[in-house]
Amino acid sequence: MHKINIAIDGPASSGKSTIAKIIAKDFGFVYTDTGAMYRGVTYLAIKHQVSFLDETALIELIENYPITFKQTDWGQAVLIQGEDVTQALRQPEVTNHVSEVSALPGVRDHLVKVQQKIAASGGVVMDGRDIGTTVLPQAEVKIFLVASASERAKRRYKENQDKGIKSNYNTLKKEIEQRDYTDSHRETSPLKQAKDASLVDTTGFSIDEVVATVESIVKEKMGEV
Ligand code: DC
Repeated sequence: MHKINIAIDGPASSGKSTIAKIIAKDFGFVYTDTGAMYRGVTYLAIKHQVSFLDETALIELIENYPITFKQTDWGQAVLIQGEDVTQALRQPEVTNHVSEVSALPGVRDHLVKVQQKIAASGGVVMDGRDIGTTVLPQAEVKIFLVASASERAKRRYKENQDKGIKSNYNTLKKEIEQRDYTDSHRETSPLKQAKDASLVDTTGFSIDEVVATVESIVKEKMGEV
């Protein structure tokens, strides 16, 4: 059977990676977290003291330190030169600067090419902001996942609480709204629902319910291709 690609886009903390990972596992597809790639460049910039505005130097970092993924018993690990940076990429310093780095057209061009190569032979579930519009406009399944900002802040707050990290609900909500704004107002590939994407609003729904909705869309499309 022809191997399809599944594009999952949506704003920060809408549940994309949680849903994408489950869908990939259930269908035996490879999950690719494109946000981790933009976070990886931001992490490298901090580590090597490169300005977030120096596009040429940032592209050099991408070329010199390729970001790779590895499946482990507990999930997917992100590696840079063999170093496991999965946790480091979630640090506030990276999160607070990643929108600046991901707004640079040259950085995007480079990473989009890497992402297209990963998906070239199909069987990939890729999540991000521009997968259905720019990276894989031919993807057979496109999902645009949304949830209200207060619901997303609530989820982040609970996640932090479970991990023993102290956070403030109002700050989290403000940060989410700020990232939504930057991600959807940048000039290159802004966060936007593809015309042919299915809109799934996860507000008030459990993970299982969202997975069931997305899987029924995938199965329907698989029947068509
Ligand atoms: O999904 P995430 O929070 O890990 O994404 C981190 C940042 O990277 C986010 O601010 C938007 C950006 N991003 C992007 O511009 N394009 C993508 N395909 C994925 C993420």
